[in-house]
Amino acid sequence: MRSINIGIIGVGNVGSSTILLLEKNKDIISARAGVDIVIKKGIVRDVNKVNKNIKIPISDNIKDVLDDDSIDIVVELMGGIDIAFDVAKKALSNNKAFVTANKAMLAYHRYDLQKIAGDTPICFEASVAGGIPIIKALRDGLSANHIMSIRGILNGTCNYILTKMTNDKLDFNQCLKEAQRLGYAESDPKLDISGMDSAHKLLILASIAYGVNAIPEDILVEGIDLINQDDIFFANEFGYVIKLLAIAKKIDSDVELRVHPVMINKDEMISKVSGVMNGISVIGDTVGETMYYGAGAGGNATASSVVSDIIEVARDSSSSMFGFKQPLESGLKIKSISSIESKYYLRINVFDKAGVLSKITSILGDNGISIKMLLQKKSNHEGIATLLLSTHRSNELSIRKAISSLCKLDVVYDKPYMIRIEE
Ligand code: NDP
Ligand code: HSE
Repeated sequence: MRSINIGIIGVGNVGSSTILLLEKNKDIISARAGVDIVIKKGIVRDVNKVNKNIKIPISDNIKDVLDDDSIDIVVELMGGIDIAFDVAKKALSNNKAFVTANKAMLAYHRYDLQKIAGDTPICFEASVAGGIPIIKALRDGLSANHIMSIRGILNGTCNYILTKMTNDKLDFNQCLKEAQRLGYAESDPKLDISGMDSAHKLLILASIAYGVNAIPEDILVEGIDLINQDDIFFANEFGYVIKLLAIAKKIDSDVELRVHPVMINKDEMISKVSGVMNGISVIGDTVGETMYYGAGAGGNATASSVVSDIIEVARDSSSSMFGFKQPLESGLKIKSISSIESKYYLRINVFDKAGVLSKITSILGDNGISIKMLLQKKSNHEGIATLLLSTHRSNELSIRKAISSLCKLDVVYDKPYMIRIEE
């Protein structure tokens, strides 16, 4: 059987699992690829840190892969943006196919790479939702549809933390440590908890669904680090769960792209996606709603997607990078953040004295915001009470103005916290 040579840059969590998977399932992989896949070299910074079960030649010099003419596919599993982008450019300009799990780099440079690549394959299934084949589903399986919306739990670390905080009433930092120990978090976990990692993934999906070119700074991104047990209590009381959602919606000729925590009805299918699992609902104009579910992080799940890309290249069956042979003539625009509409939840810590509530309701009223539900809880601080409330439908501009006025009230203890309600 013919063979194809690969070089793997980054032999950490995902890299090691990829190498072990290529070995464990060699028979089925070769049968499906039609070639033997030979790993010529793995690259790391510190050769002493490599997992003892890895038996391939290892080097700490990236050039050993990029300048090796016998290597057909460069598999980039190192992470980071700038060096990874240089690696990608060099690999493509040396006519090597490029496989990556690096959503951070793709969030900024995917269109640069597309230009450089020409007909050389670039595959990135593992960059979004770990083991779920969402790239191939969206790009190929749903290619006949206008995509009306995507709503996804795209970060395993955040979903794990929120699930643990909800079910076991554990503290945020304790849950984050556990997610790191299990290998779900990025080397810099701020990327996960700030919502940035989900934004990176959403932008990749948006390129496939809508052909739009945006970077994280163009869209609304909020993380989960300020969520506390009061918010979870309110959600539970009123039939919601809190999830970090990445949302893309087509509204006329605009596309709304945003990542933030939401309170969402407990009965929705996506609300049942727990722990490290990811879940994505995609609505096509013709197919209707489709749902995708699976492990969104972790070595094995991610390796499954990386190897599927290697097989795709080996079969010579790669599609165009985002599934467009020519640009969409209509050209969709990114909707401005200020025009986003939603219902809102607010947590407001106030000094526990007479007249406070009327001051708060009058600020909300002045901004055209009407309250739907209200609870008052004792806080852990002496003399401070916590108001938890939800509103009827409003918009981003009004809620932001209201929060800024609330901050200036002498009866408000600290900055109110807001979560959008997705209904
Ligand atoms: P790890 O930190 O476990 O591994 C990174 C590997 O890359 C290490 O072997 C590291 O070497 C090597 N590396 C980093 N920088 C360099 C460099 N400048 N030169 C040479 N080698 C380098 O990361 P993961 O395996 O978790 O993640 C890898 C990629 O996969 C990232 O892009 C991540 O976002 C993505 N991903 C991860 C998932 C997960 O569940 N972990 C899921 C989906 C995608 P050394 O150890 O010597 O520093
Ligand atoms: N840190 C990421 C997550 C890895 O938790 O989802 C998968 O992309």
